[in-house]
Amino acid sequence: VRIYVPRDAAAVALGADRVVAAIEAEAAARGLDVAIVRNGSRGLHWVEPLVEVVVGDERIAYGPVKPSDVASLFDAGLLSGADHPLCHGATKDIPFLKQQTRLTFARCGITDPLSLDDYRRYRGLTGLQKAIAMAPEEIVREVTDSGLRGRGGAGFPTGIKWKTVLEAAGERKYIVCNADEGDSGTFADRMIMEGDPFVLIEGMAIAGLATGATKGFIYTRSEYPHAIAAMSEAIEIARREGILGPSVLGSARAFDMEVRVGAGAYVCGEETALLNSLEGKRGIVRAKPPLPAHKGLFDCPTVINNVISLASVPVILDRGAAFYRDFGMGRSRGTIPIQIAGNVKHGGLYETAFGLSLGEIVDHIAGGTATGRPVKAVQVGGPLGAYFPRALFDTPFDYEAFAAKDGLIGHAGIVVFDDTVDMLHQVRFAMEFCAIESCGKCTPCRIGSTRGVEVADRIAQGIEPEKNRELLGDLCNTMKFGSLCALGGFTPYPVLSAMAHFPEDFSPAPRVEAAE
Ligand code: NAI
Ligand code: SF4
Repeated sequence: VRIYVPRDAAAVALGADRVVAAIEAEAAARGLDVAIVRNGSRGLHWVEPLVEVVVGDERIAYGPVKPSDVASLFDAGLLSGADHPLCHGATKDIPFLKQQTRLTFARCGITDPLSLDDYRRYRGLTGLQKAIAMAPEEIVREVTDSGLRGRGGAGFPTGIKWKTVLEAAGERKYIVCNADEGDSGTFADRMIMEGDPFVLIEGMAIAGLATGATKGFIYTRSEYPHAIAAMSEAIEIARREGILGPSVLGSARAFDMEVRVGAGAYVCGEETALLNSLEGKRGIVRAKPPLPAHKGLFDCPTVINNVISLASVPVILDRGAAFYRDFGMGRSRGTIPIQIAGNVKHGGLYETAFGLSLGEIVDHIAGGTATGRPVKAVQVGGPLGAYFPRALFDTPFDYEAFAAKDGLIGHAGIVVFDDTVDMLHQVRFAMEFCAIESCGKCTPCRIGSTRGVEVADRIAQGIEPEKNRELLGDLCNTMKFGSLCALGGFTPYPVLSAMAHFPEDFSPAPRVEAAE
């Protein structure tokens, strides 16, 4: 009997390895034959570790399984998919999964991440095969026509970026995958690297064929050891099997890649700081222009794309631009893996076409708060994203719709807070985060963030609150328009949104002086 237990870091953190050991021991003690496959995560974090048993054509889901549950699962008839308090029925029918549109994450959780046979069985490499038969301009046109935009946060059209690199003069060109996933509440990059590493390899190889780059780097963080291991092993396999190397899938085109690990600085997710770090220099932001597309890694034309942008390319080449752009709304085409975190009942990864309202995501898909208290605020787009109140829950998940409400989708992470959250505290946190992570190159961010912490503290202490609120607004204005990169430039988003939507948290009781 085949049993799937994820090797994904979230599942392992919740005890998946111990559950595997318990299943093996229990099966051996009972003289039963089981084959355990360590798959990627299905992205249903509240039921991790999720154990799936193959029964006929179905996989039956049990979770969250603790080692101490294993004996009772066997007693109930785990191997025949029998009912049990932890049983959720067929995995594919779990509503959280069933309602998704999985294009980028189509294989994640289904296959053995390091089995190339599995990868091929689920349409893997068909996109790359098609790309090999196409001229670079045709590949770029296909990606442009799909409407794919940068999933790292900025939403820049991927095809246009590739076109710039294709047309740039340069003996050497590079594909750099930005896997420095540092936003709080995000894990899509990690999940795909751990759960379907070949799709990223395929996407990067297609980017290489499209732009004339023959070398790629995946820049990721040291905090992602499982992703680093899975990616490195998958690259080795791909080299052995002729997917990477001097002759990609037997063609006359060459492409190879390697994984590079950062030392752990949020700013290294900013593309030019990332390039510096990759070159062995201090991770400090470079002024643009020149754009990395013209002068990037080692001064060569460079494509820098987020993991999810690159991992979405194989399905576009495989199924065609029209298929992909058919999903979504407005200028936000295709699907987006929304990462639901914070105080929610059902946290995890939910891939869907653009256009769902924030309210649908928070109230229905996430099931509201885990504490059962009312939702007060939702931060969308990482630590530099705006806080949304319930009054804005009708905002559809779309780049332009969020920008129109002074917010951003960012890397599509949402963090939910109940009514116990103190938004002034969150504002202080945003400024403190910026102060800690600032690369120090420009004054509004380096100094402004520290002054921001002080001003927030003065408001909290009731010192001239009106004057200090105004000062905080001015400071945000300076940071927004005077910072060199998104770290200083976007820190005002959480601050200003919190002040605009939750003014009651910024008028604390008058401080000691008044009492004196
Ligand atoms: P940007 O807006 O300057 O450029 C976006 C991307 O397009 C970059 O890779 C840039 O090099 C490229 N690009 C621009 N024009 C191009 C052209 N003509 N040809 C080829 N490539 C071109 O983005 P940047 O500085 O990387 O980040 C700023 C944006 O990122 C913000 O708008 C924000 O939405 C988002 N962001 C969000 C974060 C979050 O916490 N959610 C964190 C960091 C950034
Ligand atoms: Fe560095 Fe901050 Fe300036 Fe960005 S905004 S360049 S992180 S100091």
